[in-house]
Amino acid sequence: MSFLFEPFSLNSITFRNRLVMSPMCQYTAQDGFANNWHLVHYGSRAVGGAALIIQEATAISPEGRISPGDLGIYKVEHIQKLSEIVEFIKQQGTIAGIQLAHAGRKAGCNLAWKGGKQLSTEEGGWTRYAPSSIAFQPDEELPVEMTVSDIQKVISDFCIAAERAKKAGYQVIEIHAAHGYLLHEFLSPLSNHRTDSYGGSFENRVRLLLEVATAMRKVLNDGELLFVRISATDWAEGGWDVNEAIDLCKQLKMIGADLIDCSSGGLIPTARIPLGPGYQVDFADRIRIEANVPTGAVGLITNAAQAEAILMEGKADLVILGRVLLRDPYFPMNAAGKLEHDIDWPLQYSRAKQ
Ligand SMILES: Cc1cc2nc3c(=O)[nH]c(=O)nc-3n(C[C@H](O)[C@H](O)[C@H](O)COP(=O)(O)O)c2cc1C
Repeated sequence: MSFLFEPFSLNSITFRNRLVMSPMCQYTAQDGFANNWHLVHYGSRAVGGAALIIQEATAISPEGRISPGDLGIYKVEHIQKLSEIVEFIKQQGTIAGIQLAHAGRKAGCNLAWKGGKQLSTEEGGWTRYAPSSIAFQPDEELPVEMTVSDIQKVISDFCIAAERAKKAGYQVIEIHAAHGYLLHEFLSPLSNHRTDSYGGSFENRVRLLLEVATAMRKVLNDGELLFVRISATDWAEGGWDVNEAIDLCKQLKMIGADLIDCSSGGLIPTARIPLGPGYQVDFADRIRIEANVPTGAVGLITNAAQAEAILMEGKADLVILGRVLLRDPYFPMNAAGKLEHDIDWPLQYSRAKQ
């Protein structure tokens, strides 16, 4: 028996195994529109046996894109190509998920492989919005401090995006509240210096994320799952930390979040992150136990035995894979082989199965 290939159910959705593709920006869209790169890229990971694919950060508004190459869902017209991708993913037995995102003060940057630096207006950049007018890097343009009506618009944009995601057929909708993007910026006292009801105390800093999650849960049916990706810590003195993250997750669970995807960091460029194999797994473990909510572990999980041990030790419910799945789309099929667990391969590939 293998824990990795044990099916897992949340509400009415059953995942065929515990291996999930982590959201990873491809910076290959134009005006938010998906294309055949996305179809083949996500399609290959579905063919390779992932139980769930969480599509890359997909912007809820044009100004919420990290770069001009980000996927978006801020136009009705975006739905068509996304539906095609979802349909192919589902045909392979994989659940299709989408990460909905607003990049906040980290928006309007160049593509990652062009250095990822902030773009000036002349270079095609745009106005950035944040809880407070504090830049991510000292040499960057200051973001605009959001008014309460800007905040209300973000909540509404998340809900409209969730409606469109449902129409496209996604069954898992993940809110991106990690890595120093807008919702994380509200959580952290380092980036949120507001003096109104969205800043200051813990209750005020978590308010926006809880309002977004509550509103989105109402948009979703029982057959659709709500995941939330958080940074469990800023890895910085005076920043957001794991104890606050646990308290937040208790509230997210109460308002109907189905799983917490436990990442970390990204809020400030000088954070000291102790990178190493499975360096974020303990967050998934603590949140799972102390907030009593299902979790996914992510970050430098790179081999089948390591992934199996995380589940066997009860540290997470799902194992979320990033870069290893860029290197090997067939990681789940290969992991099954390593763990001597027989899984179905696509019929088209069955003559290659030893
Ligand atoms: C190319 C690339 C793009 C990424 N884009 C996103 C993203 O869109 N949303 C997100 O939450 N994390 C993003 N991440 C972080 C990954 O989802 C993952 O959390 C991180 O790479 C750690 O997992 P790994 O060690 O298995 O790669 C990205 C990472 C990479 C390498």
